[in-house]
Amino acid sequence: MGKTLMIDKKLLRKIPIFLLVFLLVFSASSLFSQESAPKTFRNPLNPYGGADPWLQYYEGNYYLATTTGRSELIMSKSPTLAGLKTAVPVQIYAETDPSRCCNMWAPEFHLLEGPNGLRWYYYYSAGTSGTLDNQHTHVLESAGTDPMGPYTYKARIFDPSNDVWAIDGSILKIEDMLYFLFSSWVGNKQNLFIAPMSDPWTLSGSRVLLAEPEYDWEMSGANVTEGPVALYHDDQIFIIYSASYCVTPDYKLGMLTYNGGDPLQRSSWEKHPEPVFQRSDENGVFGPGHNGFFMSPDGTEYWIVYHANDDDSGGCDDRRTTRVQKFSWNDDGTPNFGIPVSREAEIAAPSGDDGVDPVPEFDKLEISRFRSMSYSEGYLRHTDVYVRVDNGVTPVADSQFYVLPGLADPEAISIRAVNLPGYFLRHEGSAIIFAPSDGSEQFAADATWWVRPGLADSEWISLEAYNQPGFFIGQMFGTTALVELTDAMSDRMREDATFLEER
Ligand code: AHR
Repeated sequence: MGKTLMIDKKLLRKIPIFLLVFLLVFSASSLFSQESAPKTFRNPLNPYGGADPWLQYYEGNYYLATTTGRSELIMSKSPTLAGLKTAVPVQIYAETDPSRCCNMWAPEFHLLEGPNGLRWYYYYSAGTSGTLDNQHTHVLESAGTDPMGPYTYKARIFDPSNDVWAIDGSILKIEDMLYFLFSSWVGNKQNLFIAPMSDPWTLSGSRVLLAEPEYDWEMSGANVTEGPVALYHDDQIFIIYSASYCVTPDYKLGMLTYNGGDPLQRSSWEKHPEPVFQRSDENGVFGPGHNGFFMSPDGTEYWIVYHANDDDSGGCDDRRTTRVQKFSWNDDGTPNFGIPVSREAEIAAPSGDDGVDPVPEFDKLEISRFRSMSYSEGYLRHTDVYVRVDNGVTPVADSQFYVLPGLADPEAISIRAVNLPGYFLRHEGSAIIFAPSDGSEQFAADATWWVRPGLADSEWISLEAYNQPGFFIGQMFGTTALVELTDAMSDRMREDATFLEER
């Protein structure tokens, strides 16, 4: 992918060694012929923001969605599983309705035959701003059969006789019947419920209790069963769910087995008394849960996708990252998920996937900060999507970035926000903002920057717009903006456009 940056020699030493190594890795990996390339990759599939993942392989591409916690839903697409590591998440929906604007969690997209034909139904949890007390389950409908959309808002899915807090909606299909699975509080227990559906966005009957926390392993930190997901194998049907509080390293997976009765009867589902997938301190994987399932491209292998933390203090936030691994089946037909694999494990690519891991050393991606010459402790930072220079940035993560090969030209750079997964620094007119890629060439050009000698000090750097030569990231009227380099530029303006990259 990338070659070394084409900047004059004096500056080569300015480019962090890690970036040159990174570019060389990209160059090297692109030199591998598919035949000679090792068809392995390592977890995780993202460095940040990989919670509650949902991953499907469809018509030649893998599609991945994860919890954003914001007012938008995203989707990444790649022809190879490992390629999801560098695929840029694309915003597929943003919400402004205050009743469902915010805290978007637990995305799942299901291809279902509905009243409008075959469509993708993108289920998610969302609520109101500033609180998690109003979370409910919602669904979008795609315009056609492209998982990337476009999507339109379809409905809030709820049981009118129990219109309460509900999250983690998922779909169960038995014969031609659709059922909605979700999690909701009753007293001090977060329970699993099932309800019949008349179409992919409407319940046709009241909810029925499916399972509740009862074993100690379901009650670490809080009494929680959530994230239900159906698993089908031969003539057997399972519901795999997450148990215990997502903040704890003891978040784990449990299993219900369908015994063939009325799916809307709790007695038709037998809970396995032990967890079926849980932390591995030896492998450095903690709180594995909120999973999904997908098949290999050739349909012969079953894979599980889940999130986990790298240490036992990881918590239930954007530090959760997306992991995948193949699983097998026991003699009694139940799934054998094994043990969550370590980040060092080389995982063979799925059968029918000839991908090469573009970022084998994912966790070696350094984090950069850009210190402004014109402030004593001023750093470039985002606040929401707006960019400015602040002294003493909190949270520090707002001033932390990944410097990657330029989207428009790998000899330049693009700058990705660590805590806004998939958001790149771009100019829009003279404004400098962070935005998610829409996949267009215009976006790529607007989000690509040349590294130049600092306008105020050649030992530092300045960032010139790839598609607007002579225009640099600087300050205008106290706001971070694209400023033109002219002879009239004051020393202060030059300092405002000069940065020191710190790692
Ligand atoms: O990650 C956000 C929410 O946290 C998920 O929807 C839920 O499974 C967990 O409680």
